[in-house]
Amino acid sequence: TPARTFYDEVGGAETFRRLTAAFYAEVARDEVLRPLYPEEDLGPAERRMRMFLEQYWGGPRTYSDERGHPRLRMRHNPFRVGPIERDAWLRCMHTAIASIDDETLDAPHRRALTDYMEMAAQSMMNSPI
Ligand code: HEM
Repeated sequence: TPARTFYDEVGGAETFRRLTAAFYAEVARDEVLRPLYPEEDLGPAERRMRMFLEQYWGGPRTYSDERGHPRLRMRHNPFRVGPIERDAWLRCMHTAIASIDDETLDAPHRRALTDYMEMAAQSMMNSPI
């Protein structure tokens, strides 16, 4: 049997569904981030984020089956991601992570997820302002 992954340890698909739903609920009412999303419907963006995170943490590889290599920095080139956008994104993500209960996400897993998001948001910046 394959090794248990972070994805399995935190409750699999249901947890990633809850996390990304909470994140996009925040994006929907964020005045910095909402205008960056061209589509009226945030559902497709939510799904791409969910598939990406599931894959990153050892779950199904649906993201790459559908989208190929993530190349996230390249895919963010159309948007200015400066410190204001980074901070707005992290604010939404911190709220989303906080919405997951301690039984699902214990302290070490919460720490690992938060550290990753902070690193990823930092590395997505493509503008000094
Ligand atoms: C796509 C904004 C950081 C993962 C997008 C899109 C926007 C956006 C506007 C296009 C929406 C769409 O997919 O239709 C931002 C901003 C960030 C940020 C302002 C500030 C730091 C991140 C980070 C991650 C991430 C840190 C991963 C941990 C993704 C993914 C997509 C996406 C997976 C879909 C890519 C695809 O087309 O396959 N982002 N993002 N983003 N973002 Fe971000």
